[in-house]
Amino acid sequence: MVLRIHLIAYLRSMRLFLIGFMGSGKSTVGKLIARRKQLPFIDSDQWIEEQTGMSIPEIFELRGEAVFRDLERRFVLSVNGFEGIISCGGGLPCFNDLMSGLLDTGTVVFLEASPEVLAERLVHERIHRPLLSNAEEPSAAIASLLEKRLIFYRKAHYTVQTNGRTPENICDELEAWL
Ligand code: S3P
Repeated sequence: MVLRIHLIAYLRSMRLFLIGFMGSGKSTVGKLIARRKQLPFIDSDQWIEEQTGMSIPEIFELRGEAVFRDLERRFVLSVNGFEGIISCGGGLPCFNDLMSGLLDTGTVVFLEASPEVLAERLVHERIHRPLLSNAEEPSAAIASLLEKRLIFYRKAHYTVQTNGRTPENICDELEAWL
């Protein structure tokens, strides 16, 4: 029933939010599904970088995390009315009550992956993620942050398991619902 109501809401708004931890594949899957469904695609980190003219690591270093979270809040306000696929930065749903805003204005899909898989995927990309770049034990840092965030991610309308799956295969599952 809940699923049906949200599917109806989705069809009305055509606004799909992809959420999940860093490295869960939100941007890759988002771009792919957008291409398949011929819908526009937008990424919160990219929007913030364009608005500020700074990279995400620069914003964290020069302005601090609180300013970055406020930019994410402004991003969510800015997509009110946007129709398409929206990839949200990993921490976005976990601050400023933004998860409620996502749930109320679109369909929210959580791309789930185990901490072990995330650690493998992030091993070469950590440098671009300020919250992980200085961690002495990246695997432990990922596991601990993920645990704190699951309470938010699990509120999503749908959860898709991504361990061991290709973006194409994940999109097939998503497409079957849309
Ligand atoms: C963050 C995730 C990053 C980016 C920033 C903070 C987080 O986005 O927004 O580094 O708090 O998890 P991705 O999830 O796209 O890597």
